[in-house]
Amino acid sequence: MAKRLIFILNTALLCSAIHRPNFVLFLADDLGIGDVGCFGNDTLRTPNIDRLAATGAKLTHHIAAASVCTPSRAAFLTGRLPIRMGMAGTDRPIMFLLLSSPAGLPTSEITFAQLAKNEGYQIALIGKWHLGMNCEWGDDHCHHPNKYGFDYFYGLPLSNGLDCDPNEARSFGNYLVRMLYGDCHLFEISVALYVGFLALRYFGFFHLQWKTLIIFSLLYWSAMTSPYVLLTNGRRYVCIIMRDGDVVEQPLDISTIAPKMTAEAVKYIEQAQRKNSPFLIEIAYSNPHTALVPAPQFRGASRHGLYGDSVEEMDWSVGVVMATLEKLGLTENTFVYFTSDNGGHRESGHEGGWNGVYKGGKGQGGSEGGIRVPTVMQWPRKIKGGTTVREPTSQMDILPTMAGLIGARLPADRPMDGRDLMPLVEGQTDISPHEFMFHYCGRYLHAVRYRPRQGNTTWKVHYITNKLEPGIEGCRTDVLCMCEGDNKVTHHRPPLLYDVTNDPSEIRPISVQSDAKCGDIIARIEKGVEDHRNSLTEVEDQFKPSNFIPRPWMQPCCNVPFCSCTDDIDLSGLPFSRIEN
Ligand SMILES: *[C@@H]1O[C@H](CO)[C@@H](O)[C@H](O)[C@H]1NC(C)=O
Ligand SMILES: *[C@@H]1O[C@H](CO)[C@@H](O)[C@H](O)[C@H]1NC(C)=O
Repeated sequence: MAKRLIFILNTALLCSAIHRPNFVLFLADDLGIGDVGCFGNDTLRTPNIDRLAATGAKLTHHIAAASVCTPSRAAFLTGRLPIRMGMAGTDRPIMFLLLSSPAGLPTSEITFAQLAKNEGYQIALIGKWHLGMNCEWGDDHCHHPNKYGFDYFYGLPLSNGLDCDPNEARSFGNYLVRMLYGDCHLFEISVALYVGFLALRYFGFFHLQWKTLIIFSLLYWSAMTSPYVLLTNGRRYVCIIMRDGDVVEQPLDISTIAPKMTAEAVKYIEQAQRKNSPFLIEIAYSNPHTALVPAPQFRGASRHGLYGDSVEEMDWSVGVVMATLEKLGLTENTFVYFTSDNGGHRESGHEGGWNGVYKGGKGQGGSEGGIRVPTVMQWPRKIKGGTTVREPTSQMDILPTMAGLIGARLPADRPMDGRDLMPLVEGQTDISPHEFMFHYCGRYLHAVRYRPRQGNTTWKVHYITNKLEPGIEGCRTDVLCMCEGDNKVTHHRPPLLYDVTNDPSEIRPISVQSDAKCGDIIARIEKGVEDHRNSLTEVEDQFKPSNFIPRPWMQPCCNVPFCSCTDDIDLSGLPFSRIEN
């Protein structure tokens, strides 16, 4: 009897081991849902992403947990809302801007990479992290991807912002320089103070020896000019590439990032295959986030300027990775997921970042255009080709879905916001696992989505909306919209109510007064919000103002003190010719 039981257990274990898929998770940066072919775009070419949808599932109602990168990525990795882990700020900035800051994803959080590692997977992050680096010193790496389950990391510890473009005048550093030295006249004020100081000494108001005066002058002038030097060299301090713990390129050359990431991803998959080990690889592109500097092979190739070129470069890379899986016979049992960290950036003024029929964009926590993201899944073994999932789903669902597939137990000591998606994607159920979804902007609850357990309608209420400028779906005077502030947002009491199933563009608010049924929907949502608020606990705010003061001793730097190096990966083996599809 016991023998028989052991036999059954063994067989069960063996079967689950055979069926445990590999994972390839593609994450685009600021890609709009209207930029992708299979979501209705007929001029931007994304054949490789479209193919994933055709041979797998297209998720037309897939929601990012936040409308900007840092909190959205934190939620994706952990299956939990950013507000639960202090990754939701009170005001701008609501994303990390420095590498020399102790802000980061709290180490008490558990990522999907850690779950998979415990189950014997090999795990890599290729690309953008943007969730912190150090706590105290330049190399303690307390927030490094290696500390969150990733065995291998190659990519950008921060981001590919405007600072990274050598030709870009609109960078954050330049913005601060203009503010300090232009608007606030820091330089003129320094000169006036210095002249006044010399005059006071000349007329004998105090006495100072020459030696002291010279030392004072040197200190004074370096203090007054060093912000200028630091800020105008922002590119060197935030735009870097690391391989595991080492800085390998500083400042980075954007035009080579996507090809380098592609080469690294191919290499990683090949070696995982040689070791015969299940693997999980997250490929987090910096495309098509500004700055836009695609590789020469893609420049001018699209019909939508540098933006379109950048999207097509990314799609090419997806194609190379998929061809590698095919070549190694891994397609059948690899779970592939493609999504974007948030919607298109309407204010950035380039020729894309188009959110289709959805209102608003990046930075607007409750706007559909900021959070409904182009998403496809492929796993031939379990997902039928040509599936369309129209029910609301979330990026936070990936962790629980993966846990279910690999037999990992979910952390039981904390509320999870993600749900297992497999029953919905496989067609065993036709209703979203989410009754409520909460849409924050920073730490302010802007909107709530409600999918009643009966009927076919998904409702959405807006408590707070951004004051948009007509015509651009964004806040032109700012780089991004603000989450709070009387002249920045409008509060709605009673909230605006939309039927997003039949009115996805949210242009016909439903009058709550005239319809008793709507009052009931709002009351049920309020109850959902109350339960949700009761599940939140007080945590340390990673976006507190002191976390935005640079700490030079925490700055990652190669070839100290020059902070200068180049990573020469051989890219000659990449099939660039495959771009004309
Ligand atoms: C395709 O994408 C481009 C670039 O974002 C956009 O300008 C265009 O309007 C999109 N086309 C459609 C049909 O959505
Ligand atoms: C909901 O949609 C399904 C399939 O689209 C349909 O069969 C069903 O009748 C609908 N139910 C209601 C209550 O409208």
